[in-house]
Amino acid sequence: MSELIHLTIDGRAVTAAPGTLLINAAKAVGIEVPSFCYYDGLSLQAACRMCLVEVEKTPKLQVGCTLPVAEGMVVHTDSPQVHEARKGTLEFLLTNHPLDCPVCDKGGECELQDMTFRYGMGESRFLEQKQHSDEEQWSPVVFYDKPRCILCYRCVRICDEGMGVKALGVGNRGAVSVIEPNHFDHLECDECGMCIDICPVGALTSGTYRYKTRPWEMKHVGTICTHCADGCKTTLGVRNNEIIRGNNRDRSGINGEFLCIKGRYAADFVNSPERLQSPMVRKNGRLEPVSWSEALGAAARKVAEMKSRSGKFAVIGSNHTTNEENYYLQKFAREALGTNNIDHHRTGDVPSLLDALSANDALSPNKDTLATTADLYDRKAILVISSDLSQQHPFLAFQIRANYRHHNAHIYTVTPGPVREQDLAVRSIITAPGRELADVETLRAQLKSEPELVIVFGDAIKGDAIRKLVAFGDSLGIPVKYVCLLDYSNSRGASDMGLSPDFGPGYRAATARGLAYDEILAATGLDVLWVVGANPLKHAELASPGAFVIVQEMFLTETAQRADIVFPAASAYEKTGTVTNVCGEVQRLKGGVQVMGTKPDLEILGLLSKEMGVNLGMWSADKVLEEIRKNVHGYNIPLPVIATGGAAQTAPVNGRVPATSRPDLIQSARDTLFTSGTLGRYCKKLNSTLEAPGALYSERP
Ligand code: SF4
Ligand code: SF4
Ligand code: SF4
Ligand code: FES
Repeated sequence: MSELIHLTIDGRAVTAAPGTLLINAAKAVGIEVPSFCYYDGLSLQAACRMCLVEVEKTPKLQVGCTLPVAEGMVVHTDSPQVHEARKGTLEFLLTNHPLDCPVCDKGGECELQDMTFRYGMGESRFLEQKQHSDEEQWSPVVFYDKPRCILCYRCVRICDEGMGVKALGVGNRGAVSVIEPNHFDHLECDECGMCIDICPVGALTSGTYRYKTRPWEMKHVGTICTHCADGCKTTLGVRNNEIIRGNNRDRSGINGEFLCIKGRYAADFVNSPERLQSPMVRKNGRLEPVSWSEALGAAARKVAEMKSRSGKFAVIGSNHTTNEENYYLQKFAREALGTNNIDHHRTGDVPSLLDALSANDALSPNKDTLATTADLYDRKAILVISSDLSQQHPFLAFQIRANYRHHNAHIYTVTPGPVREQDLAVRSIITAPGRELADVETLRAQLKSEPELVIVFGDAIKGDAIRKLVAFGDSLGIPVKYVCLLDYSNSRGASDMGLSPDFGPGYRAATARGLAYDEILAATGLDVLWVVGANPLKHAELASPGAFVIVQEMFLTETAQRADIVFPAASAYEKTGTVTNVCGEVQRLKGGVQVMGTKPDLEILGLLSKEMGVNLGMWSADKVLEEIRKNVHGYNIPLPVIATGGAAQTAPVNGRVPATSRPDLIQSARDTLFTSGTLGRYCKKLNSTLEAPGALYSERP
């Protein structure tokens, strides 16, 4: 390591690595140098001059955000001269600023407002009439208020560098510069809202939040996004029991400040008028609202009747419900209903990956072979196979782009069509379906020269193909980690908790093999089908016409419409529990709102087992997590880590997985940035964007 630089900042002796920017060297010792255009992780702009500092033996004030530290440098960040400069900069920035803080969305969390309070002048010397221009709406998500803009270009840089979208640019020159969409007068972009969030003032505002509330009037609840499998932390802004926005400005959690449109704005399904708010029982052919006790009693009686006649039961679980709910559901199926006929929509072949790693003497499923989301940011090389990451896994794509920008990572892509990541790739291959592994082979020599590799693969690689892929990775002679992509917020937890006909929690063999997903739907003699948070009848018929169907759901989906009893379920934003993301990282949910009449699935199952006279243990999320920590290998996660908003990675198996691979059952739902299964159907914000629903592997504007 090169020698450290010694300097003095505000009288304090400071050491920093060569190349460190002064603004960061100061920050490391708790000295704040105010800034607007400087933004951690983005390219340098030096546009605002807010960060001016005094450096002894230099004739003029220096720009702290672009100045590298130098040996012996003596810096003053708090001198009268520096204060004067900040005052001047602020006075200039406010020349045409409307100062409409009382009605501005950013009021209360505005960096310009904060700086003006701290360093600004009491009065401005500019008395000229301010130039007004009307707000512009660029999309259902993004609005622009030109006079508020201080031209820091953070928005342009985050869209270009962070998102790889390049939807924003700068029009005109000098004092008449403006921020503009690059596509005529509107945006055709990811609608992620990163530009809005990063804007230090209220120049960019969001279609969901604007003029609805002030930051201090909301409750801020940190939880996990309930859409894709990446597991981003989102802080819900809740007012009057309504989620008004999501953001992650405190950069806590695995995703830092990143959120895509779904994590930031797609929470309006919670208050959809189509939410089910009362249990329903079919009477004279129609579903009629009934009390909880009537519905619970009817379900328990039906189960008892069918059990007394040795009836055939089956259960289909969810990719969205918590680990505790999934664990309890498989227990309910196996112990209360007495069946191993339990499955869920499998969106990726995790069991085969865990098995392939277990079968290899040199490897095993652990932190050396299973990548975390952080690995995608700091490993030297990444190979993406058969996934349009920017559409299907926006956060993973963001990590890889940041890795490329900050560490010059080598990216390889093997995909059936164009993907955004190929713009960064040292080698990209467009492949025909089914040829993925053959095409990966052509990379072998190149990959061997990498010091390490993470392989990220989609649902085209499953069953034996995963075993071949692991053998291929092993043949490279370098450390290789894997990510088996999955679709939804707890697809991984559904698998780990044993929503499977072959294995129970932690991939332990089931006492007897039950019916798989397709076999359940095709079975002719089924007596009771129990469905929790899934919609299997959207694309399939139930072959047992006489089956009694019980559904726990948020909406009257195709499956709920066929049900005989429907229980209204709470969403992830309304309950506690844990979920496991695509990389096996366990995080805790925290409920932010309540929807009248609904209950969490765990409570519904607990009440049902009580009604049925079966003791499955307490149904509080904490109690069930305790049981999971004891019984499920790899899930003995440190509680303080998840209790404080962190993520704990699991490796839920330490041996072969006793499962017959059914590659035909493994299929991604092909959701895009603007779709999200059933939840997406009820998100007005997602459906209102010009880009919805979008397509995978398509050229973007
Ligand atoms: S919403 Fe996202 S993709 Fe669209 S312009 Fe803003 S940063 Fe770019
Ligand atoms: S819109 Fe906001 S982020 Fe973009 S340049 Fe203006 S002030 Fe900066
Ligand atoms: S990337 Fe996935 S987890 Fe993250 S905000 Fe988007 S949908 Fe939610
Ligand atoms: S923060 Fe340094 S010039 Fe803007």
